[in-house]
Amino acid sequence: MSKLDDIVSLCKRRGFIFPGSDVYGGFAGTWDFGPLGVMLKNRIMQEWWKFFVDDREDIYGIDAAIIMNPKTWEASGHTATFADPLIECKECKSRFRADKIADGINESVTTEQFLATHTKCPVCGKESWGPIRKFNMMFSTHVGAVLPDDDEELANKNIAYLRPETAQGIFTNYKNVVDTIYPDLPFGLAQQGKAFRNEISPRDFILRDRECSQMEIEYFVNPTTWEENFEKMRNLQHVFLEQVIGLPKESIHEYEVPVANRAHYSKRTIDFMFDYPNGEEELMGLAYRTDFDLSNIAKASGKSMDYRDKKTNQVFVPHVIEPSIGVERLFLAVFSAAYTEDEIDGNKRIVLKLPTNLAPYRYCVSPLLKNKPELVAKAQEVYQALRHKYSNVTWDDSGNIGKRYRKQDEIGTPECIVIDFETLENDTITVRDRDTAKQKRIPIAEL
Ligand code: GAP
Repeated sequence: MSKLDDIVSLCKRRGFIFPGSDVYGGFAGTWDFGPLGVMLKNRIMQEWWKFFVDDREDIYGIDAAIIMNPKTWEASGHTATFADPLIECKECKSRFRADKIADGINESVTTEQFLATHTKCPVCGKESWGPIRKFNMMFSTHVGAVLPDDDEELANKNIAYLRPETAQGIFTNYKNVVDTIYPDLPFGLAQQGKAFRNEISPRDFILRDRECSQMEIEYFVNPTTWEENFEKMRNLQHVFLEQVIGLPKESIHEYEVPVANRAHYSKRTIDFMFDYPNGEEELMGLAYRTDFDLSNIAKASGKSMDYRDKKTNQVFVPHVIEPSIGVERLFLAVFSAAYTEDEIDGNKRIVLKLPTNLAPYRYCVSPLLKNKPELVAKAQEVYQALRHKYSNVTWDDSGNIGKRYRKQDEIGTPECIVIDFETLENDTITVRDRDTAKQKRIPIAEL
């Protein structure tokens, strides 16, 4: 089994992540977060929000609708260009994203360039390909009570899309925010929420999904200052990923994206790559989107997106620096950096060395023996007091102590507290450290 298989298996076994619609055999590209997973995911999202919004004076939050006026996607260029190269094997009819099955090509590959790579079909092994077609990745839906059977033309007019990026919910609210809270430039608008992409080949567990969550900031700047603000945002991403989230610095690599591979709106992009179990993959992107979006919205809506600088009276359309990260990709980075197999006293174990600020549970409290009412009562007292203080504290009185430790190691609980007979005499408890498996005895009051 690969390390990724081990992670998928642990995620299911301990209730972090289940395949989407598991009971019906799954649904490709979708995943459901279980009780432990949702705790870890929420902590990651809360840390991001605290770092980029609550602790700053220049970034504000918004929460826009997922289904937006379809004009949004015309103006943003997604209707015309948000497409991947789809290729079909003429022999077995399997379909693939061309740039993911051949080496040395990118998303803008032509049929001729693809054929020149002499790639064989990953399913049937033949080399018999149809032409490359552009496959738009937006999910469409019909809004309102008209069905194609009633009136196809009207129904087509009512087609809307599930947003493929949260960013447009920010751009389309830029004017509302400027007109209501008059922020000074530079300022940012941040949003967390679902985004949907009809990926041709969802893969690598939660790395490439059809439904994911993004955390995005559009940082509006005076165009003359875009370079310094790009650097500022670039540095902030490192601080967040390495110091707040605790990812190993050496596993993060910056990749300057060449023109041919950049999204249609970007004049500069740095992808932050991470060493995932299956190799280096994009964790997040930092893009200089210029005034592409605001100017297109101005054209499409007829509304001015001008900003008047309060000090200089200068009027211009702000330019935008955009850090964008997928929650699932960050979750997988955190999980794979924490996943460790080692040996304690000759016994193999799996241990999730999560940073304390992200671990689902801060402490696990147990009575040494489940059948001694005096131990259980004292342990409950400690448990309730800790829950009151930290909230994320769990109780475990199942099996023997060794089994409890194994379970807490696997879900990343930093410390396990055991109430024993000595506790009843002198109000001390044992605290076992997850990473070293060492125990110490301390007074309850020190917790
Ligand atoms: N607003 C810019 C934007 O959406 P992107 O590079 O297409 O840019 C940004 O996506 C981030 O969203 C990616 O770096 C990745 O973390 C996450 N992401 C994109 N597509 C994803 C998918 N299919 N599954 C999981 N995460 C995805």
